[in-house]
Amino acid sequence: MRADDVQNEITKVLVTEEQIQRRLDEIAAQVDADYAGKDLLLVGVLKGAVMVMADFSRALKSRAPVDWMAVSSYGAGTKSSGVVQIRKDLDTDLHDKHVLIVEDIIDSGLTLSWLLENFASRGAASIEVFALLRKPDAAKVEVNCRYVGFDIPNDFVVGYGLDYAEGYRNLRDVAVLAPHVYS
Ligand code: XMP
Ligand code: MG
Repeated sequence: MRADDVQNEITKVLVTEEQIQRRLDEIAAQVDADYAGKDLLLVGVLKGAVMVMADFSRALKSRAPVDWMAVSSYGAGTKSSGVVQIRKDLDTDLHDKHVLIVEDIIDSGLTLSWLLENFASRGAASIEVFALLRKPDAAKVEVNCRYVGFDIPNDFVVGYGLDYAEGYRNLRDVAVLAPHVYS
């Protein structure tokens, strides 16, 4: 669905599907160049990163395997708890791999900084982060993010994989959820 289909439930469209695809092409070209000749592994964080992984991985010209991790830090609410739990671990041994974590959004940064620490002991050759969205004003911890799609304001957003109570993941655009939906 598009933002028009849920116009009463959102207050603003922040990034359109077309803008996302253009930005993904740019970042994919950078990643292709940066990782030329290297053993790249894309690691997605379920479930939010499903859409960005699908489009980003296909925008790459290099052959890059994909693995998934499932962690939970939010539950059904809209605020980070800082408590991270592994629900599904990777299937891949990270040893000597050049790992690029693909994330939907960096909000407080708590989830990613926990994940980076968790990955640090697994013997990867390098670990970098690509986040489609980042909320600079919400940062509680600094996360070293090499590739960023869009910096956005500190509002709760949905769409393109991002959910509220599992809804809106299939919205093609990224939009600010109207407060009446969750209050
Ligand atoms: P943190 O705060 O740890 O965020 O950087 C971790 C995860 O929380 C989800 N998240 C959101 N989901 N709208 C959403 O639908 C948002 O505005 C939002 N902010 C954070 C997301 O899964 C992220 O990986
Ligand atoms: Mg989520």
